[in-house]
Amino acid sequence: MLTEETKSIIKATIPVLEEHGDAITTAFYKHMFEEHPELLNIFNKTNQKLGRQQTALAQTVIAAAKHIDHLEAIIPNVNQIAHKHRALQIKEEHYPIVGENLIWAIGHVLGDAATPEIIDAWTKTYGVIADVFIQMEKALYEEEEWHDFKPFKVIDIKEESAEIKSYTVISDDIKVQPIKAGQYITVKVHPENEENDALRHYSICSVDSTKGIKFAVKRDVAGSEKGMVSNYLHDNVKVGDELLLSAPAGEFTVDAPQEKDIVLISGGVGMTPIMAMLEDEDKKGRNIKFIHSAYNRDAVPFKAEIKKFHNKENVQFFFNYSESVGRLNKAKLTDIINGNEEIYMCGSVAFMEAMLEVFNEMNIDRSQVHFEPFGPKMSITI
Ligand code: HEM
Repeated sequence: MLTEETKSIIKATIPVLEEHGDAITTAFYKHMFEEHPELLNIFNKTNQKLGRQQTALAQTVIAAAKHIDHLEAIIPNVNQIAHKHRALQIKEEHYPIVGENLIWAIGHVLGDAATPEIIDAWTKTYGVIADVFIQMEKALYEEEEWHDFKPFKVIDIKEESAEIKSYTVISDDIKVQPIKAGQYITVKVHPENEENDALRHYSICSVDSTKGIKFAVKRDVAGSEKGMVSNYLHDNVKVGDELLLSAPAGEFTVDAPQEKDIVLISGGVGMTPIMAMLEDEDKKGRNIKFIHSAYNRDAVPFKAEIKKFHNKENVQFFFNYSESVGRLNKAKLTDIINGNEEIYMCGSVAFMEAMLEVFNEMNIDRSQVHFEPFGPKMSITI
């Protein structure tokens, strides 16, 4: 339990943290990796270079500080992060390392302004926040289908679009349970010429695991830091090779009452978990509106799978090609969505933000909209 005095110090330091949040987390990562270079086998180096994880961590700490009187408000976000941590095999013993280095970084960046009282308040508060994560992750470890990363053999690779390939993998030892639609797996690779292991999450395309787990990877070519792992998988991994996988994870699943219609909406490779939802919800006889936004027809993945649903009365398809008709907007979506459905969507953070804005314009209640961005979700929700 935090005392009122500790809480008031935390509240008083929020503006300072907001001002220096990124500087603190940048110093934190630099220092932590100097002290614990083994952690470079866990953290995403591309995210580090692009500053993505810096922002995620800074925002989470500030969000927690803002909700210090009612930390339960951040539980839904912690749940999503806890799934990712479990998938990456982050353990209880890692938390003190992050804590020590974060507190060091606060002191380092704030200098004399970081009084012993402030350092003490943040040390205690970090302990409380870390415990929320640790307890939630403990429960996920108890349920995980297999422990650690286990070898799976690649039995099929398919070009799903110009930039997306799917990989089907099986294990000799593990009989994989049916997948929950919307989940992802986490792959651990060690590309030649790289010093460290690299871990990445990829969404699973199908709930049917009888012939293996099928997941999709978009070749990331954007910017100077093109995706190290996606390019490695696209260029180097062949049928017969082995990949290390941790157990499926994620809480982006369809939980709408059976009588409700659903809208499945995706941008780009965000169609991957949405395909698993389409397959699963169609089996239940659900009425589905499937909306996909892509640059053009060539960029649309899973065309063969989509064709299988073309004669189904319960499934309606809408494709938006932004190259020719621009982005999805209120006018287009008002023709499709009546506002009574539950909406599930997946895509980039930018796509999610744009769609949430359109839903606001359409007066669709946020509680009807469930989403998973390829990136930290808290930056959108808090
Ligand atoms: C991802 C917060 C502890 C390793 C994340 C994300 C957040 C976060 C917000 C982004 C999630 C997303 O992509 O949706 C926190 C907080 C912690 C904590 C608030 C402490 C209370 C730890 C610890 C470790 C760790 C102890 C391991 C030493 C990672 C890794 C990722 C991640 C490897 C994936 C992103 C990347 O590799 O850049 N965490 N985390 N975290 N976290 Fe944590």
